Amino acid sequence: MPTKTIVDASIPNAGRVYDYLLGGHHNFEIDRRAAEQVRLATPFLPKLMRLFRWCLQDLAYELTYVRGYDAIVDFASGLPTADHLHSAVAPGTTVIYSDRDPVCVEYGLEILENTPNVHYFQADCRQPIDYLNRPEVQALLKDKRRVAYIYWGISMYLTDEEIHKIAQDLHDYSDDSSTMAFYLQPYNQNTENGVQVRELYKKMGDELHFRTLPQFKELFKPWVADDLGYRTMEEWHGVESPLTAEDMVWFPDGTVGWGVYLVKGK
Ligand SMILES: C[S@@+](CC[C@H](N)C(=O)[O-])C[C@H]1O[C@@H](n2cnc3c(N)ncnc32)[C@H](O)[C@@H]1O
Repeated sequence: MPTKTIVDASIPNAGRVYDYLLGGHHNFEIDRRAAEQVRLATPFLPKLMRLFRWCLQDLAYELTYVRGYDAIVDFASGLPTADHLHSAVAPGTTVIYSDRDPVCVEYGLEILENTPNVHYFQADCRQPIDYLNRPEVQALLKDKRRVAYIYWGISMYLTDEEIHKIAQDLHDYSDDSSTMAFYLQPYNQNTENGVQVRELYKKMGDELHFRTLPQFKELFKPWVADDLGYRTMEEWHGVESPLTAEDMVWFPDGTVGWGVYLVKGK
């Protein structure tokens, strides 16, 4: 298969589609057309994505200004546009983005240009330790173990086994004061809409996985939630849901998902 590059504007790219739906400018006509199709199927998606971005900004603020982390390792980052983490962290924070999609990485690097302290590498988030041990990442972290790891907007792409392994590996690897921030994607697989979404993604080559809150908690072991616990996205950002009652039919759990700061138990 030929290597994908950012100059290939003949196939829509998920990162650029996401950027378009967020109101960004880093996308091509082919992406805009695909995005409009997605918007037709799920009209509430742009509102939802905006809420997720606000929550990412809260995360960046909380981790750096409040909790004092000066290194953030973000997995499955997508494009670093439209208020991604680096725009809200405390000055001097090292932000290391990554994604497995080479188009996202190449385009991400172009968007960031030489933004100080912000980096972007290609990596598969299912192998965090191999990635963290890479010389280019070690050169930035300099043996630092007090690190904030972020998995935001990726759970639906991962199997139960993969989430559990990521959690265990990072738990073994990291310092007692490290944290892992995670966004838990809900959806009930058995709803008509859930089935429809899974079919849509299957056609694009992605098998989606949705789970309940208790299932997630089991997978995260031995990490535990910090004192803030599992909070819905609405609670996380302190807003009323931007979704209408009609939109919420897609979310039988009554929320668009939960966020959590996982820490090591005492
Ligand atoms: C919905 S976007 C989330 C972007 C960002 N984290 C956010 O919350 O705005 C999902 C991203 O995960 C990436 N991705 C999917 N599977 C991955 C994997 N195994 N390793 C790394 N990235 C992956 C996709 O390429 C895409 O950019």
